[in-house]
Amino acid sequence: MLVLGIETSCDETAVALYDSVQGLVGHEVYSQISLHANYGGVVPELAARDHICKTLPLLKKLLESCEVDKKDLDGVAYTAGPGLIGALLVGASIGRSLAWGLGVPAVAVNHLEGHLVAPFLGELPHPRPPFLALLVSGGHSQFIWVKAIGEYEILGETLDDAVGEAFDKVAKLLGLGYPGGPEVAKIADQGDAKRFHFPRPLLDRPGLDLSFSGLKSHVIRIIDRLGHTPDAEEKAAIAAGFQEAVVDVLVGKSLRALELTNATELVIAGGVGANLALRQRLTELAESRPLALFFPKLQFCTDNAAMIALAGCLRLQKGESQLSAFDALPRWELLV
Ligand code: KG4
Ligand code: ZN
Repeated sequence: MLVLGIETSCDETAVALYDSVQGLVGHEVYSQISLHANYGGVVPELAARDHICKTLPLLKKLLESCEVDKKDLDGVAYTAGPGLIGALLVGASIGRSLAWGLGVPAVAVNHLEGHLVAPFLGELPHPRPPFLALLVSGGHSQFIWVKAIGEYEILGETLDDAVGEAFDKVAKLLGLGYPGGPEVAKIADQGDAKRFHFPRPLLDRPGLDLSFSGLKSHVIRIIDRLGHTPDAEEKAAIAAGFQEAVVDVLVGKSLRALELTNATELVIAGGVGANLALRQRLTELAESRPLALFFPKLQFCTDNAAMIALAGCLRLQKGESQLSAFDALPRWELLV
């Protein structure tokens, strides 16, 4: 079964072809970063307008480079949420119309499920449900018990900002570019993480809930106390202290989640899963206990359509599809 995946939930226009036998056939991502750079964040109206311009040319490029004719498609999967409503509607409309025109089934994919299946795009071995997942992206920070693909239990989640959002906000406070996560990570490498003290929010409390907005407020207080715009060394120290606090919390809570669930497999999904400091610390954790870690390839941590095509393929294989009516859901939690 050859499935086209379309992802337009935020600031990446992406298309991919996934074959149930061959695996990933090809994928393309067009990032709108430069479009939003001057605004320090994604402007929803601009994002939607740009997806309209980019999706079909990107699809044409993908089909040509993979030497696939659109008539060979057996199904179309598109991200239906969560995300920016205008942006989602572009992918949903194009996906639905294509499927309708070609007479193949279409399936609405939850973007979070896409992130969760991203490790299955890598080499074997793959995680085997039930497993524990830490989903850390720009919009979500959750511990998820994956009983099966499609059957989820949320064990804990952020009470305020998502961790990627906190990275982005701290980057803005430090005058760094967007998206902030990679920028903060880059300067954190040269910084003295001990120069400024950072709290470890909720780490001393039971349970698996998380909180990151306090760390952002802490950065505001540090800058206020300095009384001047931080110089390069101070910025690096703030970035390093912030990143170390985030990683301490995520690793500490992951350990607790592993103990609570007795899980021996942990999947790290979402854009913040690309953070090398987090990967390093989790790898160390896995060396101290019976634990198999599954990180998606770096390119499949952040938004892409390969994960959407794969998630859609799994659902289409189960016979799931929607005939004609379609929906885009800015808020769409994973079904519990
Ligand atoms: O999963 P994703 O591409 O989009 C959402 O579904 O939200 O995640 C994007 C988030 C952004 O907040 C970005 O700053 C963060 O992931 N991110 C990182 C890194 N790369 C991306 N955060 C920390 N370190 C990174 N290397
Ligand atoms: Zn995402």
